[in-house]
Amino acid sequence: MIVQGISGLMRPLLSGLKASKIRSIYLCGVAEQNHTPAKQGSESSLSSTQKLQDAPGQLSTADQVTVHFINRDGEQLTATAKEGESLLEVVVNQNLAIDGFGACEGTLACSTCHLIFEKDTFQKLGAISDEELDMLDLAYGLTETSRLGCQVCVKKSMDGLTVQVPIDVSDIRKQQEVGKQSKQ
Ligand code: FES
Repeated sequence: MIVQGISGLMRPLLSGLKASKIRSIYLCGVAEQNHTPAKQGSESSLSSTQKLQDAPGQLSTADQVTVHFINRDGEQLTATAKEGESLLEVVVNQNLAIDGFGACEGTLACSTCHLIFEKDTFQKLGAISDEELDMLDLAYGLTETSRLGCQVCVKKSMDGLTVQVPIDVSDIRKQQEVGKQSKQ
């Protein structure tokens, strides 16, 4: 009843957003329960947005998941993540110096959070949504083990994970902007 009430109040607010944004802003907190990162209900969107903005609190060792990012220049960046964060949140919350990463803040509109996984890890990741696939198609340097970091949730089993940041990055929003301008 309360949830329905909140949902009803949020609907007019959310109706002005593109559907793809609504689906993608919320993700890992609920995704862990449902295994479909980009297709959850709208009630969780605000809490995930909040999480992206909040710095992570002190983690107990049991909650820590170590993630290594191989940056565009080959430098390894190591972060301490917590279960339930997206890899985008890990980069943002830990202030990792990955140029241009996560430009759309996880709204599935840019593909700048493109990451390349090792094959074994890739096969264990959660389901990939049609929206993520569409955005991946626009990413530079796409591989068979590519995913978008904003759509991949950290799990305990990922401890020690290493992901490659592609050398080239494309922000599809800028390409679309250039396309619009050239038509004018
Ligand atoms: Fe833009 Fe992931 S941050 S698509």
